[in-house]
Amino acid sequence: MAVVLETRGLTRTFGRVVAAEDVSVQIRSGERVGLVGPNGAGKTTFLNLITGYVRPDHGRILFSGKDITGLPPRVITRMGIVRSFQIPQIYSTLSVLENMLLALAAREGRGFDFWNPLRRSRAIEEAMELLASFGLTEYAYRPAAELPEGGRKLLDIALAFALRPIVLLMDEPTSGVSTKDKFVVMDTLMEVLQRTGVTTLFVEHDMDVVYRYAERVLVFQNGRVVADGDPQTLFADVTVRRAVIGWE
Ligand SMILES: Nc1ncnc2c1ncn2[C@@H]1O[C@H](COP(=O)(O)OP(=O)(O)O)[C@@H](O)[C@H]1O
Ligand SMILES: [Mg+2]
Repeated sequence: MAVVLETRGLTRTFGRVVAAEDVSVQIRSGERVGLVGPNGAGKTTFLNLITGYVRPDHGRILFSGKDITGLPPRVITRMGIVRSFQIPQIYSTLSVLENMLLALAAREGRGFDFWNPLRRSRAIEEAMELLASFGLTEYAYRPAAELPEGGRKLLDIALAFALRPIVLLMDEPTSGVSTKDKFVVMDTLMEVLQRTGVTTLFVEHDMDVVYRYAERVLVFQNGRVVADGDPQTLFADVTVRRAVIGWE
């Protein structure tokens, strides 16, 4: 598969902290990549660099071969690199469907004319389809506050999908979800990813989740990628295992 995302020598320091050091990776189209490593290893910074929220001191970021280094986050999002928990947030008092319609409106910008009846019914149709693919149909007309934690995570991801991602970035998509529900969230997400071919990078602390859902793992330590490979091989490696011990 073609390389969709590439970083070359990405480096970023905050004062004395080296949050990213010479990070060079190539992500191929459709890959599901787990980002792991201890707290403060630079996983979130890596996502922030890719989405344009943090600028690198050195290095380049290429998206489908195009240099996107230094572009504003909203431009990068519009190109197809979307992060969940980004925009828009979930409004608890609005219904799940209304939340989705707001996400679609955000995507369309000024072109979104909700008072045009045809446009409105198309938007509702698209919103309902998105909710259905994430198993949220039964919650469509209920306030988002009534969603169980797993459902809330799925809505977060579904809202990101409203922005039509080519690359989806997630920072701990299952945090705060019970072990049982984690697998429901991930199974649902994986089915959508499989169907749409969206490339995914996700930060995850639960190694069971990583082992089961990542086809490739990047291990971060002190701002560097210290290991890169499939989870079976990586977790069999003594050095990696040693690094794994002590992870929260
Ligand atoms: N905006 C920032 N200002 C100052 N220090 C930061 C900032 N973002 C990250 N850091 C520091 O960079 C290091 C890597 O952080 P982070 O990328 O959040 O790690 P992780 O997500 O792996 O836990 C940490 O030492 C963190 O304190
Ligand atoms: Mg983090």
